[in-house]
Amino acid sequence: MLSAQIRETFLNFFASKDHKIVPSAPIVVKDDPTLMFTNAGMNQFKDYFLGNRTAEYPRIADTQKCLRVSGKHNDLEEVGLDTYHHTMFEMLGNWSFGDYFKEEAISWAWELLTEVYKMDKSRLYVTYFEGDVAENLEADEETRQIWSRFVSADRILKGNKKDNFWEMGATGPCGPCTEIHVDIRDDAERALVDGKTLVNASHPHVIEIWNNVFIQFNRSANGSLSVLPAKHVDTGMGFERLCMVLQGKKSNYDTDVFTPLIATVEAISGIQYQYSDSKQDVAMRVIADHIRAVTFTIADGQLPSNTGAGYVIRRILRRAVRYGYSYLDLKEPFFHKLVVVVAKQFEHVFTNVLSQLDLVEKVIREEEATFLNTLGGGLKKFAAISNISGKEIGGREAFELYDTFGFPIDLTRLLAAEQGLTIDEAGFETELKKQKERSKKDAAVNQEDWVQLVEDEEEEFVGYDFTEANVHLVRYRKVVAKEKEQYQLVFNYTPFYAEGGGQVGDTGYLIADDEKVRITDTKKENNLIIHYSDELPKNLNGSFKAVVDNTKRIYTERNHTATHLLHEALRSVLGTHVQQKGSLVNEDYLRFDFSHFAKVSDEELVRIESIVNENILHNFPLDERRHVPMNEAKNMGAMALFGEKYGDVVRVIRFGNSVELCGGTHVKATGNIGLFKIVSESAVAAGIRRIEAVTGMGALSHINGKLEQLEKISVLSRNTRDIVKGIEALVTENNDLRKELERLQNQQAGQLKETLKGQVQSINGIHFLAVTVPLNAAEAIKNLAFNLRQEVENLFLVLGAEMDGKAHLTVMLDDQLVKDMGLNASNIVRELAREIEGGGGGQPFYATAGGKKPQGLAKAMAKAQEMVASMQQA
Ligand code: SER
Repeated sequence: MLSAQIRETFLNFFASKDHKIVPSAPIVVKDDPTLMFTNAGMNQFKDYFLGNRTAEYPRIADTQKCLRVSGKHNDLEEVGLDTYHHTMFEMLGNWSFGDYFKEEAISWAWELLTEVYKMDKSRLYVTYFEGDVAENLEADEETRQIWSRFVSADRILKGNKKDNFWEMGATGPCGPCTEIHVDIRDDAERALVDGKTLVNASHPHVIEIWNNVFIQFNRSANGSLSVLPAKHVDTGMGFERLCMVLQGKKSNYDTDVFTPLIATVEAISGIQYQYSDSKQDVAMRVIADHIRAVTFTIADGQLPSNTGAGYVIRRILRRAVRYGYSYLDLKEPFFHKLVVVVAKQFEHVFTNVLSQLDLVEKVIREEEATFLNTLGGGLKKFAAISNISGKEIGGREAFELYDTFGFPIDLTRLLAAEQGLTIDEAGFETELKKQKERSKKDAAVNQEDWVQLVEDEEEEFVGYDFTEANVHLVRYRKVVAKEKEQYQLVFNYTPFYAEGGGQVGDTGYLIADDEKVRITDTKKENNLIIHYSDELPKNLNGSFKAVVDNTKRIYTERNHTATHLLHEALRSVLGTHVQQKGSLVNEDYLRFDFSHFAKVSDEELVRIESIVNENILHNFPLDERRHVPMNEAKNMGAMALFGEKYGDVVRVIRFGNSVELCGGTHVKATGNIGLFKIVSESAVAAGIRRIEAVTGMGALSHINGKLEQLEKISVLSRNTRDIVKGIEALVTENNDLRKELERLQNQQAGQLKETLKGQVQSINGIHFLAVTVPLNAAEAIKNLAFNLRQEVENLFLVLGAEMDGKAHLTVMLDDQLVKDMGLNASNIVRELAREIEGGGGGQPFYATAGGKKPQGLAKAMAKAQEMVASMQQA
């Protein structure tokens, strides 16, 4: 079976068991502070397990793009060295939200593997949870019993908390699990060593393929487990491993999921893959793995950067580039050439790669090129450091590699490991911390557990229709961020819009008879709307009037609606390749980032701006539709942004021809925007441009500001009726004056020359002159010196001048003096320049110097005189 059929078979099987098949969530997680990337199929359903939201379908199945490179689940270091761990992988999963439980989950898993995929039963092992005294958890007897109907007792193994109690992260839903392992060793090997002794023992050919988790608990920040309102099933099967087993291969990289990528790396490098553990093969596997991670995350909206999720992508990318550089001799950007292979492979599964091919390639190419600039130097530096370091690379050195050469710490760790060295990780962290403290960016956030005041109440957002509501508190918690205490409040109703879709969160007040609590911001976390406040309301159980700051909201809405109109205008002027890549909308302005490969010309900007203003004047009313199914929304022409998540409230916002999926708040009709004015256009990253604009009163004050400036210019131009004419006249006058000044200075220099000739002293055959002249143009002084040299024989000339508060010295010598007496103008000018606290140089016959002490000029002249006098004695 080809991988595509294997995937389809899984989904069809669960569809036949009444599961709703849903799309993968984006690999990048936007609104869960405990996660940067989707690391398991269940992430997008976290709220269903916790009981914060009710599932629309109680049974769901899908294939989910996952990335395990940070946090609790991190496989990065294994990738490439073995043949079955990946950064990005697909997880096939089926879920029950309070519906079926262990009985169905286990028997369906068995049915699919053995009857549909026809796996050899004698090669399968299963595990169950043995219990844990410290956590007060009992052994999962029920699971063992269900398995005993299908599998003989000697292949049902018990496992400890590490292997058989699955947790999403430090906090969140969790529960006991049962894993299915498969033994794909050759028969001869199987006869020698019993497969069951190799389960969970990191053997490359006795591996876990499917995990069935029975979610029943929530792990809190204080470490305790609490029982969830309902019992759920969460399963995850590693798709690439499943393909390996079903295609009879010994390595995931030998399945058709990876062979096209490996073949492309072979073609690019001219090196053949050997199916071995050689450095070259490891490099090829790493590259084939990493390109998938980098491609999918960029396509899902996360660009490489220096912090957070963006930095994780940059690290993975740099790791791949270094493997290519060191082991496949790829010294030029190559990684981006693999994107098209990934895009074609997933054309029908994850469609947003092919549709953004140009952008993803461009971003990766640029990243590669940047890193290649410092990679060679960094590797040399590393070699030098490792030679003098003994067994351990110092923290300072690791930090230097990081800071100066862009080596992420895991890359340095990898380089060190290859040489059998370690890194002083603590030392590195200290350096990093020092740097962070310096930039005061990353402040620690300490979050306490929620305090629940009212049970089982769902929060409802009413802010599309109201900016005030009567509310009470449902839960709150204390957070300490940047050494400041804050409270996060959740209400039963809220008119406050939570930051999202680029729009800032609302601010406002919580008002009761005897108090008024300021809400400083509103954010979303796993679908809870969280209100930030510096104080906790006194009466936690009282009722309040929640009032949104209306002016800020209205100003923000103008900018938000204008963003939609801008998006549409960009597509109509620049082309439909324009896709939104990010936005910020607040009360002051809007910022819109989009894919486009050239600077937007002034003329295009004018057209874009007028289209938006025409649509404002047209006064299109807001056409808002809530709860629209995704397909219907797409049929309406709405553009999905970062691949919407299954089950999200899809809301369609239409103003005339502009149709967008959007959760933000908007004006009632475009006329409310008043006026739209673009204030800047710039580049953000490869292939991504940014437009900033203002609307309404902001646009008015922007234009008024410009008019005021113009008014001032007009006064200065001395022709208030026609400013351009006035300025043209000023420019012409300025040019004429400059010419006149030059003419006068030359004339003055000519007269000066005559005067100076009369002051030349004859000291023992040398014609000496040292004098400070009233010229303030270097060019004029130079001309004067050269003219004197032509007219006076055997000249030793020193000219001083004061120009713009600084001292200037020129020394000019006759060739005769240079040749016969060995004098050197450069040396002389340097010696004299001490008096003006400066320095200079030039040629043996002509040199100049500058200095900051004009008062020293007289002394310099006197010194020159002494020099010549002493020469005479010698
Ligand atoms: N959440 C479990 C895992 O990731 C099963 O899907 O292994």
